[in-house]
Amino acid sequence: MSAIQCRKLLKQFVQGEQLVRGLDEVDLEVEAGEFVCLSGPSGSGKTTLLNALGGLDSLDAGQVQVAGQQVEQLSKNQRAKLRLTNIGFVFQAYNLIPVLSALENVEFVMQLQGRSKQERREKALAVLAEVGLQGLEARRPSQLSGGQQQRVAVARAIASEPDLVLADEPTANLDSASASQLIDLFLQLNAKHGLTFVIATHDQRVMQRCRRLITMQDGKIIADVRQDAAA
Ligand SMILES: Nc1ncnc2c1ncn2[C@@H]1O[C@H](COP(=O)(O)OP(=O)(O)OP(=O)(O)O)[C@@H](O)[C@H]1O
Ligand SMILES: [Mg+2]
Repeated sequence: MSAIQCRKLLKQFVQGEQLVRGLDEVDLEVEAGEFVCLSGPSGSGKTTLLNALGGLDSLDAGQVQVAGQQVEQLSKNQRAKLRLTNIGFVFQAYNLIPVLSALENVEFVMQLQGRSKQERREKALAVLAEVGLQGLEARRPSQLSGGQQQRVAVARAIASEPDLVLADEPTANLDSASASQLIDLFLQLNAKHGLTFVIATHDQRVMQRCRRLITMQDGKIIADVRQDAAA
């Protein structure tokens, strides 16, 4: 089954007098359970592609299907619902709410999904344990290391049991050990739950460990290679 199907995605940006193609007729198919890295130089279109997959940005042309839904045909509300229920996002900046504890940060998203208080608490505790943060649930982001904060962000992303996780430079602010642990965690979630990952990254350590490495340049996919992931 396809987790993602893109046909001729076109996204243009106005830059001064110029029209720049952030995405230049991109075709992409990702099967459920794949672990994919998007690489390529700065400005090659990685973030623009993730935004298109997540329905965060409108397209100028083309079709995107995610979780069986035709994203470009959805209303703004329907897209928000798709993101809330089917897609988990992990960003370079952890985007946690500073005044809330780790537990409350995870519960907050589930509150938006209308889950009961008890359900939220149980699920939040379970996913925080799954990402290795048992015992740290009451800490606020400022009381956690960068790696730990990123794991709270991962717990938040998977709390809704999404089919797909989109991550944009998730290791950019992490030291080597934390980056390596984060990739271990992603691979573990991929193996255990069949969760599909698409990760935009400049990080060689991340690229080495993915099973499919896509390279972008000037808004196009210029290479798409399946590889044996290094342990
Ligand atoms: N909001 C915007 N307005 C104008 N141009 C934009 C906008 N967003 C992206 N672009 C342009 O689209 C192209 C692709 O940008 P994008 O952010 O997707 O690159 P990227 O591969 O994610 O780069 P990086 O590795 O630096 O994060 C670039 O030329 C960029 O300048
Ligand atoms: Mg980017």
